Amino acid sequence: MSTPAINPSVLNSDFMRIGEELDRIAGADRAHIDVMDGHFVPNLTFGPSMVEQMARRSPIPLDAHLMIENADREALAYAEAGAESVTFHLEAANAPVRLARELRRAGVKVGVGLRPATPVEPLLDILGEFDMVLVMTVEPGFGGQSFLESMLPKIRRTRQAISAANLELSIQVDGGIKRETIALAAEAGADVFVAGSAIYSADDAAAEITALRELAAAHACRA
Ligand code: DX5
Ligand code: ZN
Repeated sequence: MSTPAINPSVLNSDFMRIGEELDRIAGADRAHIDVMDGHFVPNLTFGPSMVEQMARRSPIPLDAHLMIENADREALAYAEAGAESVTFHLEAANAPVRLARELRRAGVKVGVGLRPATPVEPLLDILGEFDMVLVMTVEPGFGGQSFLESMLPKIRRTRQAISAANLELSIQVDGGIKRETIALAAEAGADVFVAGSAIYSADDAAAEITALRELAAAHACRA
């Protein structure tokens, strides 16, 4: 388990002022960039050229979350765009091991994402191919939804499997993370926390990042 990381999602920021919006979260660990293609999820956001511009402009590294079909073909472009980590969805990859290896060869950390209805068990024999498992705590597509407490057992099972295999993966949670929910996810074993609306709707984004980080550290799981 690493010290808790807070990765604010820019999904609910003001895209017309994205540079300044990235500056607002300069005290966070990474900027979480939600790439949506209008097919895997019913929403459309950024492509590789926008991610490349954000990577150049951002004061902190980018954590790209690809909610796209055809991850096998398109994920590499986000590594080349300069993201520090690239997370693709297990549901969208035909050959997740091959893709994870290609991404690692391209020099990025690799995450694998699970929609709420996708169990972690299909990953258990291939966990070593990844640096991070993303357990979605809402149905992906939009910011501002409520945290699904029904995902806590999956977070716990994932943490147990990582410990049992003596691996060092992070568990990222994404969706509905705010002061009221972050402790639950931390206690279950998450150590990377995405928060979109909680941070961008706060008057003081920097203070919100600090408060979330302190809550996560106070409730960190010891597994
Ligand atoms: C949802 C995205 C999230 C979203 C989180 O599909 O993956 O990253 O921005 O937003 P909040 O924190 O508002 O639930
Ligand atoms: Zn996301």
